[in-house]
Amino acid sequence: MNDLLHRLGIQLPIIQAPMGGGPGNPQLAAAVSNAGGLGSLAGAYLTPDQIRDEVRRTRQLTTRPFNVNLFAGGYQSRPDRDPAPMLEVLSPIHDLLHLSPPSLPRVPPDPFDEQIAAVLELRPDVFSFTFGVPSPDVMRRLRHAGMAIIGTATTVEEAVILAEAGVDGIVAQGAEAGAHRGTFAGSFEAAMIPTMELVRQIAARTSAPVIASGGIMTGAEIAAALRAGAAAVQLGTAFLLCPEAGTSEAYKKAILNAFGDNTTTITRAFSGRAARGLRNRFIEIMSDREELILPFPIQNSLTRTMRSAAASQGNPDYLSLWAGTGVGRARATPAAELIATLMEELRMDT
Ligand SMILES: Cc1cc2nc3c(=O)[nH]c(=O)nc-3n(C[C@H](O)[C@H](O)[C@H](O)COP(=O)(O)O)c2cc1C
Repeated sequence: MNDLLHRLGIQLPIIQAPMGGGPGNPQLAAAVSNAGGLGSLAGAYLTPDQIRDEVRRTRQLTTRPFNVNLFAGGYQSRPDRDPAPMLEVLSPIHDLLHLSPPSLPRVPPDPFDEQIAAVLELRPDVFSFTFGVPSPDVMRRLRHAGMAIIGTATTVEEAVILAEAGVDGIVAQGAEAGAHRGTFAGSFEAAMIPTMELVRQIAARTSAPVIASGGIMTGAEIAAALRAGAAAVQLGTAFLLCPEAGTSEAYKKAILNAFGDNTTTITRAFSGRAARGLRNRFIEIMSDREELILPFPIQNSLTRTMRSAAASQGNPDYLSLWAGTGVGRARATPAAELIATLMEELRMDT
């Protein structure tokens, strides 16, 4: 067992990525923690009361450590351009989905302060963040509360900032990763570094333990990440088809249809922030209208009605189907079985 696993209180070097917007939930987090890995709850889209409820439900299902994750930055509550053209694009899609015409939602101020207050009160064993860095005061309070702290970097420069802020581990989020890019210092285009390369670079430049994240689907790939200098791995897409995950049926079906192919792309269409997901109709519609997209999280709120309706109507054309480049290799097995298989494959490779 290495220092990071010791600090996190887990046996196996496998972290289930926090997955906001549905796939992540207490059942999945607890199943992973009970299997010896680290389960994660995605708190960013939740109110403090919802975070309390998810932590309580997770604690009913496991006594092992688990992680709560938040977005620590990248929040813009005012539009930086005229929203009318974007509303015009959405209008016929709302018609198609039998929805009333779209309107610009009122986006509340950044909820991070009240969310972190709930986390400090709940004291999960591990807290992780992405999109930025919490203030020195928040970092001090997290440390004082005894929590292990994990930040997300997409470049060496960001990893150095996190190490200086005093994190216990750094998620090296490579270009292959599913969902939002965690980039917070510089443009996302300049931060599309392949996972293994990023792990090597960060391990060479900082003394903080590195957690490889992006495109890792098998034990052989975990072995390669550990050889590159990682102390653990964080997998998202690999868990999307687990029966415990909250992945909607239309989303699961789209993943199964992607079998064998890398059909993912990076888009800002759904949320205003660059993210990797399966190509679909909405991404195509927006591909030559990039300049209309509103900033995160306004675009995310604006497309929520469309995405929810598409999910409940089983229509993958207008859903955000976040997935990493390894999506064609996702396995539909219970989380504990997936972890046992990954560990067996890892053993065979070491
Ligand atoms: C559906 C989905 C939702 C995600 N939501 C979050 C999140 O809320 N917070 C976060 O730090 N990372 C989030 N991620 C990114 C993961 O932390 C991780 O970097 C990524 O899943 C790794 O790539 P992989 O999907 O190829 O394993 C999400 C990933 C997916 C697939």
